[in-house]
Amino acid sequence: MVTVLPHQFSGVYTIKDDERTSLCTESIAPGISVYGEKLISYEEKEYRIWSTRRSKLSAAIRNGLSEMPIQPGSQILYLGAASGTTVSHCSDIVSKNGIVYAVEFSERTARELIHLAANRPNIIPIVEDARHPTRYASVVAGPIDVVYQDVAQPNQATILYENLKTFSSFGAWGMLAIKARSIDSASDLDEIYSKEIATLDNFGLQVVDNIDLSPLEKDHRFIVCRVTEELT
Ligand SMILES: C[S@@+](CC[C@H](N)C(=O)[O-])C[C@H]1O[C@@H](n2cnc3c(N)ncnc32)[C@H](O)[C@@H]1O
Repeated sequence: MVTVLPHQFSGVYTIKDDERTSLCTESIAPGISVYGEKLISYEEKEYRIWSTRRSKLSAAIRNGLSEMPIQPGSQILYLGAASGTTVSHCSDIVSKNGIVYAVEFSERTARELIHLAANRPNIIPIVEDARHPTRYASVVAGPIDVVYQDVAQPNQATILYENLKTFSSFGAWGMLAIKARSIDSASDLDEIYSKEIATLDNFGLQVVDNIDLSPLEKDHRFIVCRVTEELT
């Protein structure tokens, strides 16, 4: 027997069957599986299982995330969208009153993202480089509530800051999946994370959550931070 219950985070659900409990979101595009995830019909709604192995945001929630700024109605700027696995769940969560601007610089990967957006009017795909926010400023009708960053580049904290500075203001949120080995292939992991967190701090971003994603993702941290002073 299957039961779907609201999670503590609005727009997120847990689904329980006889064997396990999984995270899921209510699909805004019923009948379509985006990356092979299971679709579950329950009380006249359709839910999509949210894989903790395929999405760092799902892994962070599973590992005890305490702040979830992505909510129904949120305006999200998502950097490093890839083919849209996590973007699709964000699109379910923000639902019809929210928007996910999804930035991906690989044209080949972005083709799948554009295909995904055809069935999800709240996703605006942007084929651009997240290091240059002014290049897509004309497309983003701000202000943005949350900048989500998963680009796996060496200067991740700086890219997050530049985008927050361009599109957000006091009280906005940043979410950052730090891939340690994209930043430094040899140094001690804690040293790498501390350096990125110090960079966020120097930019005036207050870190409110810091989650180790192991064993779901190796050498990754998930950070939630907040704009608590004017960004200059
Ligand atoms: C780890 S994957 C993202 C996975 C995705 N966030 C998800 O959970 O479904 C990183 C993506 O960032 C993209 N990327 C890397 N550097 C970028 C940049 N400077 N601007 C835009 N996209 C970038 C890569 O092409 C790749 O698709």
